[in-house]
Amino acid sequence: MKILLFIALVSIVSAQFNDFDIKDYKDVINSRNFTGKVILVTGSNSGIGEGIVKLFSILGANVVVTGRKADDVQRVGKEVQELSPKKLKLSQELAYAPAKAGLDMLTRVLALELGPKGIRVNTLNPGATQVDKTGDPGVDKITPLRREGQPLDMAKGVAFLASSDASFITGANLVVDGGLVYNMGALGM
Ligand SMILES: *[C@@H]1O[C@H](CO)[C@@H](O)[C@H](O)[C@H]1NC(C)=O
Repeated sequence: MKILLFIALVSIVSAQFNDFDIKDYKDVINSRNFTGKVILVTGSNSGIGEGIVKLFSILGANVVVTGRKADDVQRVGKEVQELSPKKLKLSQELAYAPAKAGLDMLTRVLALELGPKGIRVNTLNPGATQVDKTGDPGVDKITPLRREGQPLDMAKGVAFLASSDASFITGANLVVDGGLVYNMGALGM
């Protein structure tokens, strides 16, 4: 028992000097400081995009605001899906679904392609998000966290994925929905 404990301590101590720099731990305090970074957000003239742009401005980034047609997202989503090895079946389940599945696939393909170049690619998957003054009490009831998402909730997720805290995360799909995805039964889905 004593010998085992000793070995464990030795490995912790040697890890301290060989495997990491304590400065990397301390840098986490500043991980949301985006000073000197350029952030381009498509479709950022309203709703979630607007929330993302606002938060990144507050975090010090130079923000580029652009709009983009939803049609384009769907077209790219479809094209990527056709390129996917498994040829995932398209639902006839809302136009939103194939676009989203396409984006998930695009994320994985780009993560594979660009990882070796040091570029990370991730997706944030928002749940029901309140983008105007009238909320949806129905959504509040079936969401495990008992409220609708706000643009700021989504912006925080994006800031995390873009930050150095996510430096080893690529090809991920971060679901920010208050747990709604686990209660789709309540929607009859
Ligand atoms: C953010 O980083 C910049 C330098 O990159 C520094 O000048 C600034 O004070 C930092 N802001 C905060 C709030 O720490």
